[in-house]
Amino acid sequence: MPKRPLLAMFSAVFVSTYFFLYSLSGCCEKADRIQQDPSPSIRGNGQVHLELHLEARSGSAAGEKGRVERTSDVEDEGELYRDGPLLHEDEAAENGSQNLPQAIIIGVKKAGTRALLEALRQHPQVRALGAEAHFFDRHYGRGLHWYRSLMPKSLPGQLTMEKTPSYFVTREAPGRIWAMAGTQTKLLVVVRDPVTRAVSDYAQTLAKRPHGTLPFEALAFRNGSGAVQVGWSAVRIGLYARHLERWLRLFPRHRLLFVSGERLIADPAAELARAQTFLGIPQLVTTQHFYFDSAKGFPCLRRGAGGKPHCLGKSKGRPHPRVPPEALQRLREFYRPFNLKFYQMAGHDFGWD
Ligand code: A3P
Repeated sequence: MPKRPLLAMFSAVFVSTYFFLYSLSGCCEKADRIQQDPSPSIRGNGQVHLELHLEARSGSAAGEKGRVERTSDVEDEGELYRDGPLLHEDEAAENGSQNLPQAIIIGVKKAGTRALLEALRQHPQVRALGAEAHFFDRHYGRGLHWYRSLMPKSLPGQLTMEKTPSYFVTREAPGRIWAMAGTQTKLLVVVRDPVTRAVSDYAQTLAKRPHGTLPFEALAFRNGSGAVQVGWSAVRIGLYARHLERWLRLFPRHRLLFVSGERLIADPAAELARAQTFLGIPQLVTTQHFYFDSAKGFPCLRRGAGGKPHCLGKSKGRPHPRVPPEALQRLREFYRPFNLKFYQMAGHDFGWD
């Protein structure tokens, strides 16, 4: 055989083998990356969707076994863990066991749920999951065993807690929480003026999608008739009376605590005192845990007397976009009857009108 064709054949075999092996290694490396790095994707409803493995930072087994999905509030994770665990968290992680939550912050989105949870976490008798579990809305099919496996370890006498604000507006959530422990679970609901809450919700959308988001008033009101778009989630979530009706069908009112989002900013220690009474734990998170941070413009936490100061992240306490005052006024009028009904149901006038 002449030498040239032989050489050409050898080179062809070498080159194709090389490319075959290269493409294999490229494919697997990519697959690895997909498993390791949670990557956001856009869902049909336009929400940013992120699946991540929970870090095993709070003594939770979730790092190994659990997967928690966080949607729309991807920056809303347990904030204080960055500074390392508190003493009671260390002890529980070593000697404790995982339990289903006895108390849950069920809502309301953008009302101050993270601020409440982070403050309660300072209490030595509270052990809380940092990220949102979304068990009773999205992951119910995974079962209670999975839910428990997400929880941080706790010692006897410590309460296990989690917060997922979307539970409050999820049709199935009351029945599912009731099925877990009857009326035993204590439910905390942070509420805020629904008009401000809607603007805060919109500010969050704008922060995530600065381009292509319609103005607030275009989303809140139907073109032409000017009727309020109840279908827009930023508006719908604020119909507190409607959502609460479903909870009160199963839970007696004394099993729910309504925390004022406004007072949580103006006087956090007072709201924390109410929460600790409701949870049946001693008043250990007090004024000395809070200071007003003038740069942040919000109360921030001091981890115990003389402890390290900590403010919530930049997604909490965002500047709100300007919305025409007439639009806000129309929305205020729309909410008035719902607010009045809510005050009756909750047994407290929040003074939003
Ligand atoms: P804004 O960003 O509109 O001001 P959630 O944690 O449920 O998403 O609520 C976010 C809201 O918590 C913020 O809405 C902010 O007003 C309120 N908040 C209450 N206490 C806070 C605090 N200490 N630091 C920052 N935000 C706080």
